[in-house]
Amino acid sequence: MPLPFNVATHLDTAIRAAAKALGLTDQGFESEVRVADPANGDFQANGALAFAKRAKQNPRALAQQIVDLLGALQTDFDLTLAGPGFINFRLKPAALLGWLQAYGSAQDLQNGAASARQGQTWIVDYSSPNTAKQMHVGHLRSAVIGEAICRLLAFSGAKVIRDNHIGDWGTQFGKLIWAHKRHLDPAALATDPLEEFERLYKVGNTAADADPSVLEEARHELVRLQDGDSTNLEIWKEINDVSLAAFQQIYDQLGIKFDVTLGESFYNDKVPRVYRELSESGLAEESGGALVVFHDEHPRFSRNAERPNPFMVRKGDGASGYASTDLATALYRAENFHAHGIVIVTDFRQTDHFEQLFLTVKKWFAAKKYRLPELHHVIFGAVTGDDGKALRTRDGGTIKLKELLGEAEERAYALVTEKTPDLPEAERRTIARTIGISSVQYADLSQNRSSNYVFSWEKMLSFEGNTAPYLLYAVTRVRSIFRKASLNPAEPPVGSATAPESLQEISLARKLVKFPDAIQLATNTLRPHFLGLYLYELAGEFSGFYAADKVIVDDAAVRARRLLLCHRTLIVLETGLHLLGLRTLERM
Ligand code: ARG
Repeated sequence: MPLPFNVATHLDTAIRAAAKALGLTDQGFESEVRVADPANGDFQANGALAFAKRAKQNPRALAQQIVDLLGALQTDFDLTLAGPGFINFRLKPAALLGWLQAYGSAQDLQNGAASARQGQTWIVDYSSPNTAKQMHVGHLRSAVIGEAICRLLAFSGAKVIRDNHIGDWGTQFGKLIWAHKRHLDPAALATDPLEEFERLYKVGNTAADADPSVLEEARHELVRLQDGDSTNLEIWKEINDVSLAAFQQIYDQLGIKFDVTLGESFYNDKVPRVYRELSESGLAEESGGALVVFHDEHPRFSRNAERPNPFMVRKGDGASGYASTDLATALYRAENFHAHGIVIVTDFRQTDHFEQLFLTVKKWFAAKKYRLPELHHVIFGAVTGDDGKALRTRDGGTIKLKELLGEAEERAYALVTEKTPDLPEAERRTIARTIGISSVQYADLSQNRSSNYVFSWEKMLSFEGNTAPYLLYAVTRVRSIFRKASLNPAEPPVGSATAPESLQEISLARKLVKFPDAIQLATNTLRPHFLGLYLYELAGEFSGFYAADKVIVDDAAVRARRLLLCHRTLIVLETGLHLLGLRTLERM
């Protein structure tokens, strides 16, 4: 029997059984299995140490008692007791071979991983830009990180619903419609409609700032829209349609396809129920005409806070807002999609909003006995220039995403042309498109998302370091081994492969077996950079192996053994990069 896909889980099960036999389970024993420092082994279990400390027992003796019950693991692992009471597990070469043979295709990897969230539905709310404006560089992270999270969740077996929660019902429409009726330039509308809407918004905004009567008229336009006035609805719809078509071009470049686009306007008729239920259950209270929710257990959202900052469920003028819509959205997702989990990906500046939202939803659902989904606000930091300030164009404007992605392709094209001038132009273009977009995506995904990240063309397009070009190149290098030997990587001749032998073979095999841990870590923490780091390290292991051990040698057994490692590296690298939302190349 080969080892299960996730070796750490297998060890956890065995150790828990041993702990149970020793009567430790009821006393809160945890196995604490994790990936070990390679010098010590493949996995280590720290649970005996933590438990013995609490129970005032001798940790080494306890660890030894556990080891004595793990005899069945000796077939696949060398077990050692280390330090004050760690148990180290080192996979034997035959066990490494068994695992590599058992998971021999991208589909096998998927099947292996797909048990964790089988039967669960997850809603991922990402990208979610406001309409009537172009997407700028600030919109990149939500789209890129959100898509990687969708793919990771789906890989672990969940049904994922990608929901673009566009801001299509904001107060911007008052000024916009006001200006649209008076200052529309039909020629500009025909050439670049989104550009024209942005101009109109500025016209409306400037006019409203200068003249209170304009502001008043703009407010009326908004009220008319909300009351269903047909002219205003038509303008509103035109603006949204144009915006969505422009967004779609960017989504196509990034490989994103939403299942639903349920923006703020969709929830317009669903907010009265929120007002009613929050009032009935005593969660919300009237305050100067507004309906607000305080959370007295929270220092900043309590009514006794130094600067009271309640969750504004309904504004003083009776209008709904961001809070009301998001409350209605949470209920709709729970009821309509039976969501097991909801993930919302936005900038860190919305932390307070979502903290208040989640606190309110938890109390509301408890009061109404609605089933509460897992709620996750996935935040990310800002994209900055070298100076640490928000990235801007030279003249201080915002950088449009469309232009940024275009520049990425152009820069990649220059690079590809420099490296492989002999390839036909069309092929260089295709390669450049993948390298350019992947570099932008991966520059973002290789960072811990909570930090700000410094946007640097030089770094992201470098063939050295944890970059997309480096990883894409690693893939093409493995592919070229097969190509040069006239072998089809879809059907690698590895049936007669024996267990890894050389230092580098073993080291690479040990890294491959840890793919499930990287996936699990990235998925459970909703932090794709853990997967990126793993792939980078795997590519490094492969380089070490390839430099030391020639693959296409005469000895058939050695060749099969090394081809097996090449092939498994290929499927793990490609699967991992696709999970991050990147496209890969056959050659470059
Ligand atoms: N439209 C918002 C913005 O541009 C993001 C929406 C995120 N999703 C949500 N359910 N609030 O900042």
